[in-house]
Amino acid sequence: MTSAANAELLALAVSVAREAAALAARRRSETVTVAATKSSPVDVVTATDREVEALIRGRLRDARPSDGFLGEESGSGSSASGLHWIVDPIDGTVNFLYGIPHYAVSIAVSEGADPASWSILAGCVVNPASGELFAAARGEGATLDGRAVAVSAPASLGESLVATGFGYDARVRDEQGATVMQLLSRVRDIRRMGAAALDLCSIAVGRLDAYFERGLNPWDFAAGALIASEAGAVVTTDDVRDGRRLVMAAAPSIAREFAELLRDTRA
Ligand code: IPD
Ligand code: CA
Repeated sequence: MTSAANAELLALAVSVAREAAALAARRRSETVTVAATKSSPVDVVTATDREVEALIRGRLRDARPSDGFLGEESGSGSSASGLHWIVDPIDGTVNFLYGIPHYAVSIAVSEGADPASWSILAGCVVNPASGELFAAARGEGATLDGRAVAVSAPASLGESLVATGFGYDARVRDEQGATVMQLLSRVRDIRRMGAAALDLCSIAVGRLDAYFERGLNPWDFAAGALIASEAGAVVTTDDVRDGRRLVMAAAPSIAREFAELLRDTRA
């Protein structure tokens, strides 16, 4: 795709994400309750997750009927154009449920829908509570609210603020906790903020130096991974173990050391 075509896709993603974020914020100001649980009792979905995804899906279908769709709440639809919209209507659903103002609408568009081989062309992540909008088109850099952003340059891993996240499966969490225990004494500190898309955007703007999580779904990281990498982060997503993909993003100055540490700790 040309950069003009990618810019056009990004403009659509941004306008739909803004409308979706306004809906999520409005619903958050009303009553939010759990509608159902998914993979485990702690993996919840609210009516708003579904409503926001339906809005996004409808808007994208109207604008680009031959593109495919892959969303957290409503599954996938086939693509005649080769392009796919990868959508998390609310990333950070548990934060949304509790009224913690750290959740996001995430919309990306890719060539291919398989993270093993896709090429993300454009993506945006909006935090409805703060209004912040992170965006990137391939090869064009990343922005926060329209201004160019760049990653941090920590001098060492020991001076790096590292974020991670935990899956919804109790056995997996045991392993993730063991990894975090080993990392804790090797870095400045650890954060678990509860929305993978915003973790990746935080790397892009230097609010975090490194992030990793194994077991993310495509919609959790599609937009954020492009935004982090366009801001200069080293982003890797090719390590898959037991069907669970490791997503790592780090400032270039510490990326190699961080990747080695993740390997040593069996992250
Ligand atoms: C979750 C968040 C969380 C991450 C989980 C994701 P959801 O997405 O991104 O930070 O640790 O792995 O599943 O369920 O809130 O959309
Ligand atoms: Ca998510």
